[in-house]
Amino acid sequence: MENAARFRESDELLKRALKVTPLGAQTFSKSYRYFPRGNAPLFLEKGKGCRVWDVDGYCFVDYICALGPVTVGYHDERVDSAVIAQLEKGVSFSQPTPLEVTLAEKLTRVLPGAEMVRFVKNGSDATTAAVRLARAHTERDIVLCSGYHGMHDWYISSTTNDAGIPGAISEMTVAFPYNDIAALKALFSQYAGRVACVIMEPIQGEGPRDGYLAELADVVHENGALLIFDEVVSGFRYAIGGASELFGVTPDLAAYGKGIANGLPLSVVVGRRDVMELIAEKAVFISTTFGGETLSIAAALATIEILEKPGVFKTLRDLGNKMLLGLEESISRLKIGGAVATTGLSPHAGVKFEASGGLDYLDLTSVFEQEMINEGILTYGITNLNTSHGEREIEQYVAAAEKAFSAIKKAIDTDTISGILTGAKIEPVFRRN
Ligand SMILES: Cc1ncc(COP(=O)(O)O)c(C=O)c1O
Repeated sequence: MENAARFRESDELLKRALKVTPLGAQTFSKSYRYFPRGNAPLFLEKGKGCRVWDVDGYCFVDYICALGPVTVGYHDERVDSAVIAQLEKGVSFSQPTPLEVTLAEKLTRVLPGAEMVRFVKNGSDATTAAVRLARAHTERDIVLCSGYHGMHDWYISSTTNDAGIPGAISEMTVAFPYNDIAALKALFSQYAGRVACVIMEPIQGEGPRDGYLAELADVVHENGALLIFDEVVSGFRYAIGGASELFGVTPDLAAYGKGIANGLPLSVVVGRRDVMELIAEKAVFISTTFGGETLSIAAALATIEILEKPGVFKTLRDLGNKMLLGLEESISRLKIGGAVATTGLSPHAGVKFEASGGLDYLDLTSVFEQEMINEGILTYGITNLNTSHGEREIEQYVAAAEKAFSAIKKAIDTDTISGILTGAKIEPVFRRN
């Protein structure tokens, strides 16, 4: 298919965007670099349910869901009407509104261990708030982390994306491997008496091995540190209360964001009353102009009401598992198991690619994205399902993936993507685990 003309508006917009915006996007992972440019939409205009329309007028079933926030579907009438009703009353005020008390009360009921809550905006704000509270509570400095925790200095300084951050900061955050208690214990010995907290994504890859999270919580507490779960991805996706709810392990503090308000900007730090009260008692500074912005709060209340309905998360998990099964059957039928594998824990799961012969994983991921786009599907491989995806969409996904895998098989068999990938090769998306 000759797609350079097909995505003309996207390409024109990209030219304009690149003149005024680094990478042409506000978020790294949404940039043109991560899609097979020339053969992909690059700008979206509207969405409904699980579908989005690009600036050239093409419709795609979207499995990225705005990088996670869209949990009940684009332009959901129940959420949008709550937002519109609030818009008519006002957006930001000079004093708190009753709405924020209502949401705070609600969150203390639905999030494990949330004795008190504080609203911020991005996931990064919430993880940073949790770490600051832990440091203030323990009067220690060292942070042990596992996963991705956002853009702020304390975390990103511990990665290779540390430009612009003083070296002294990076010395205070140390990464540890997931599902490995011995490695964590070794760090507690190395930094004896200095660790303020362990912050981690409680679900990584296929999830925790049996008993891992409970054992980890014990180790953290035996060493006088606090446990923080970064539920920015897992919260409101596996369950309202994320991994804490799913695995029955309650951290001292937790950060939620992304899926809480179906795409409106809200994140929260929640946890133990004695620790959260430090915001008042010690003026631990967690305060933003827009923390009480009402449209996001109205959206969160409406979103949670939908997600609370019985069976919502079971349905999502079942759909994700059906997808994984279909993908696995295709992979084994086409005998491409050396280069393609399913990954993740449903409903945040999908496929990942490995190097094969002279091809690297980005060659294969690029072909996959391109072929899925040709079939009317926008995906990175790992999918985010929302409540408006159904059996029909999953069947379409699996059928499209079979075609994409056939193209990948051809690339593997001929050891080239030449003539197969007609868009640009994508670049690695930064995500540290
Ligand atoms: C697990 C996790 N924590 C924190 C963040 C940071 O959230 P935000 O980008 O909203 O600041 C992200 C974002 O992708 C995330 O995946």
